[in-house]
Amino acid sequence: MEIINDIATVQSRCLQARQDGKRIAFVPTMGFLHEGHLSLMREGRARGDLLVASIFVNPTQFGPKEDLSAYPRDLERDAELARENGVDILFHPTPETMYPKGYKTYVNVEGLTRTLCGESRPGHFRGVTTVVCKLFNIVQPHVALFGRKDFQQLAVLRRMVADLNLTVEVVGLPTVREKDGLAMSSRNVYLSAEHRKQALSLVDALRQAGVAARHGELHPRRLVGLVRERISREPDAEIDYIKICDGDTLESVDRVDAHSVLLLAVRIGSTRLIDNNYIFEEV
Ligand code: PAF
Repeated sequence: MEIINDIATVQSRCLQARQDGKRIAFVPTMGFLHEGHLSLMREGRARGDLLVASIFVNPTQFGPKEDLSAYPRDLERDAELARENGVDILFHPTPETMYPKGYKTYVNVEGLTRTLCGESRPGHFRGVTTVVCKLFNIVQPHVALFGRKDFQQLAVLRRMVADLNLTVEVVGLPTVREKDGLAMSSRNVYLSAEHRKQALSLVDALRQAGVAARHGELHPRRLVGLVRERISREPDAEIDYIKICDGDTLESVDRVDAHSVLLLAVRIGSTRLIDNNYIFEEV
């Protein structure tokens, strides 16, 4: 595995691979890899001849009061994990490489980015779409893999790819969970032992809503009420949103069906966690 910091080298390696008829699979990450990322890499390995991953803690997707400087980083460990999971090229640019002096261009998907996480994190998705569009232009992948845990991010990126006529195939893979059900996230390291326990209320609530829906409760408001009640029992939980939306448009639904997704964002102490599930699916 090669670790490359500069854009021109990655671009020329990937162009060469395309010219040689190779299929390029790409897994963009912000590092501090966990099993969720590794499952994307293994799937990428199976789908491509050249597997490229990136590690870049993207400053433009963090708000002024968010955890950019504190975001966990461990390049040495990440590189080892990437190598073990079949990555051929690990792209690790600096912020100055990606956003040199004078940088002025941003990609913005409208509508879908205003709701859910977009309400409490204005500008976040503009940063995500900008960096992912740049990474797609650098790597020129045939297929790119993302986790369904960031459900809104996946929907926004699919919209961007369709609207900008990009040729990359976007694949979303199921959320990978710890044994006790907590969705894997690089941010889980921030949780104290007590908050780690309280964080399980998210998956518990998703499960309870799923059971209720499968038993015939199809009213979003009542399902959301169940979830709210479960999470509010935790002393340090502060709910940002709990919503049931259409899985493609992210618009609220009046009645749940197989396409409806329950999405939530909750702060446990100072750690903001997100999770989601198609309402009728078992968690
Ligand atoms: O999901 C992430 O880790 C990031 O938002 C992404 C897609 C790598 C863009 O910085």
